[in-house]
Formats: sequence, C-alpha cells, structure tokens
Amino acid sequence: MDFLHFSLVLLLSNLSVDAAIFTLQNKCNNTIWPGILAGGGHPVLDDGGLELNPHASINVTAPAGWSGRFWARNGCTFDDSGEGNCATGNCGNVLKCKGAGGVPPVSLAEFTLDSPMDFYDVSLVDGYNMPISIIPLGGSGNCSKVTCVSDLNIKCPDGLQVKGDGGDVVGCKSACMAFQKPEYCCSAESTYTKDKAS
Ligand SMILES: *[C@@H]1O[C@H](CO)[C@@H](O)[C@H](O)[C@H]1NC(C)=O
Ligand SMILES: *[C@@H]1O[C@H](CO)[C@@H](O)[C@H](O)[C@H]1NC(C)=O
Ligand SMILES: *[C@@H]1O[C@H](CO)[C@@H](O)[C@H](O)[C@H]1NC(C)=O
Repeated sequence: MDFLHFSLVLLLSNLSVDAAIFTLQNKCNNTIWPGILAGGGHPVLDDGGLELNPHASINVTAPAGWSGRFWARNGCTFDDSGEGNCATGNCGNVLKCKGAGGVPPVSLAEFTLDSPMDFYDVSLVDGYNMPISIIPLGGSGNCSKVTCVSDLNIKCPDGLQVKGDGGDVVGCKSACMAFQKPEYCCSAESTYTKDKAS
C-alpha cells in the first residue's frame, strides 16, 4: 500500500451568518476516511466520520460558532456495519467516530468559528500522519491558506516512527508522545523551566 500521497484539503466558506461549509477534498489516489471531533457543547458533524474516494470532495455544514477538529484516517477497512480499523487515525474501530478523537499520531486541522472571527490552524501537536491543508474562501480580511504538504513520514526519525502492517512508516509521533518527558511535553515539571527560574 502506498501511503506517500495521502492529502486532505479543507475549504472553509461562510455560507451565511448562521453556517459555514467545510469542503473536504481528497487529493490522493487512495481512499481516505476523514474524522471530525467537535469541541465541547458543539454538534458532531456527519456522525464524526466519513469515507472519501480518491479525488472526491464532500461538503459538511457547520452551524455558526462551531469549533472542532478534522483529521484523516488512512489504510482503513470497515465492514457493512461500519466496524473495522485503520492504519492511522483510528477512533475506536468504527467509521462514525461519534465524539471519539483519532488515536495519535494524526495531523489536525482545527477551527473555532465566529469568535468573533474564524480561527483555524494546522497542528502537529498530536504528531503527523498525512499532509493536510486549509483554504479559506470568500472571507473578509487576511485569510491565509494554511498548508502542511510535506510528507514527514519519509523524514521521521527512528524513535518516532509508527509502521503499518507492510513495514512502511505511516505516522510520526510527537516527541512528547514518544518519550513522555517534561522537556518534550512543556509540562509543569519541566526541569528546563526550573533551571531558568533559579
Ligand atoms: C495519482 O496517479 C496519477 C496517475 O497514475 C499520477 O500521475 C499522480 O502523480 C498520482 N498523484 C498522487 C498525488 O499520487
Ligand atoms: C460544496 O459547497 C460549495 C459552496 O457552496 C459548492 O460550490 C460546491 O459545489 C459544493 N460541493 C459539493 C460536492 O457539494
Ligand atoms: C497576511 O498574512 C500573511 C500570513 O500571516 C502575512 O505574511 C501577510 O503579510 C499578511 N498580509 C497583510 C496585507 O496583512
């Protein structure tokens, strides 16, 4: 299986003051299975997961003020009842994540809409599994594209690699996740912080 060319692109357009449209585009030659996690109190869009064929796109509508994150799962097999698993980004062995997040490492596209502006970012805080980009459409102001188009799996250091069944690198852990050390996790017990303070 070829994991090198997976790429999820999200287009964000403001439908009206009451809603926004996320257009999820699969730019790869392989099927991907986007996952969607809503922030606290916000509705789970599309039951939290869907299948997206190569070069297909799909619209997901979010209500005003929505916040949450998108990621992509790859190398999945699901049966007719929507149970199965994925090489990366699994959310409890189901197609419809329904409020469960993706198991790291996963590249994230994060959004907080209408607060009072739309905030968005691409984050590798939970590691990396595939390229992901956000392209805002039709907003006012300086709405830049945010893209992570590099294949970091081919550059992932040994200690951070996650390998698929075929032995190829399918994801790259964050140093915090891999080593669980305060200096990589920026946690309160960081000796670096203490040294600096003393
Ligand atoms: C998809 O497949 C086409 C035809 O084989 C190839 O030219 C193209 O580079 C591939 N694209 C990606 C992103 O792998
Ligand atoms: C998604 O919504 C956009 C903006 O309204 C529209 O131009 C596009 O045709 C829609 N795409 C699909 C796949 O429905
Ligand atoms: C828009 O944002 C980009 C990225 O932050 C920045 O490089 C650019 O200078 C900004 N342009 C304007 C006109 O503010």
